[in-house]
Amino acid sequence: MSVADAPPAAEVATIATPINLVLFSLFALIIYLRFRPSTPAATLPTAPPATVFRVFTPPQLLPFDGQSNRPVYLAVRGKIFDVSPGRNFYGPGGPYANFAGRDASRGLACGSFDAEMLTEDLQGPLDRLEDLGQEEMEALRGWEERFGEKYLVVGKLVPVGHAEAEPDEEKK
Ligand code: HEM
Repeated sequence: MSVADAPPAAEVATIATPINLVLFSLFALIIYLRFRPSTPAATLPTAPPATVFRVFTPPQLLPFDGQSNRPVYLAVRGKIFDVSPGRNFYGPGGPYANFAGRDASRGLACGSFDAEMLTEDLQGPLDRLEDLGQEEMEALRGWEERFGEKYLVVGKLVPVGHAEAEPDEEKK
């Protein structure tokens, strides 16, 4: 049998020399380093936006109605909740959109979407809910508790002219 007739296995054996294996490993390492996935820092989850606690007056709360992709806020007994995760409920076209950007306390307490449940004069005093009965206040506390478990409190509601009220952007 001549050398030319040697079986292919013998050729493979000549390629797989120790020096070739080292060179191949180096080559593979270079390729890996060149094309490995981006640095771990780039894959870290991004932190959620910091929640800033703000003081709102009713007119300052009004724009937070979920329109044009804005967040949806509503107030319950002076606490302002960011209900944006419940946009389906409170956002534009949602069944509870009437509460978006408003003090929802009376409507939730009475289980009503009637227009008179919402404070009409946004420049006036806050709704003190003094005329509501025990049952209604109990219902309201139930909602407040549920919101507290589900949503972030992002501020508090004060009447226009209150000492803690923040000046409007354009007046700053
Ligand atoms: C025909 C009567 C009503 C029906 C069929 C109804 C139906 C529902 C349903 C299916 C949910 C979702 C529950 C969940 O997945 O957590 C819900 C939540 C809610 N409903 Fe109603 N509802 C009705 C009346 C009312 C009324 C009268 C009010 C208050 C004025 C109200 C206020 C709410 C609120 C605040 C939520 C919670 C949304 C959230 O988790 O952020 N609903 N309702």
